[in-house]
Amino acid sequence: MMNEARARGVARILIDEAAIQARIRELASELDDLYGTDTPLMVGVLNGAVAFMTDLMRAMTIPVKIDFMAVSSYGASTQSSGVVRILKDLNEEIEGRRVLVVEDIVDSGLTLQYLLDVLERRNPIDLRVVALLKKEKVAAAEVRVDQVGFAIPDEFVVGYGLDYAGRYRNLPYVAVLDPRTIEEGQ
Ligand code: IMP
Repeated sequence: MMNEARARGVARILIDEAAIQARIRELASELDDLYGTDTPLMVGVLNGAVAFMTDLMRAMTIPVKIDFMAVSSYGASTQSSGVVRILKDLNEEIEGRRVLVVEDIVDSGLTLQYLLDVLERRNPIDLRVVALLKKEKVAAAEVRVDQVGFAIPDEFVVGYGLDYAGRYRNLPYVAVLDPRTIEEGQ
């Protein structure tokens, strides 16, 4: 494992750094083709999408603009509460623009569905979603995600932007958390 100190509490690597970066290059090339001469506004969902967003936008060759939204997350729990709150809204107007929402992970899909409803009401030309990870569960299947990096089993994962209680975001890979870390409330 790359860095023992950063990785403490991690049970196993699910998607390594090379696989993430290779998949991002594929997604970026699809997005380049899709938007062509248009300049999409990439909307990153803070804080989890930061790693994915910065790598994805640099792998794209077309011009893009970026903005961020922050919504309430689970806090220190590993279950979605179903309550979504906007903590930080966009700086940009999106009416008449092409918007690409960049998400770290779709679990229950509640957060994404809420965001899409809010953004759709602002009349963008089109609204698409790219998510690095999507859990293989029924609820997640109901929300629209145009591009998915990796479908993963329904386990709690950390790294590459994803946290548990604010930690592990800076791991360059996606890993499964050791259940003992959750029990110990670290
Ligand atoms: P959802 O509303 O259940 O789809 O979850 C949305 C948010 O919860 C994601 O954007 C993540 O920030 C967080 N989340 C969901 N599953 C995980 C996980 O396995 N690890 C870390 N964060 C997660």
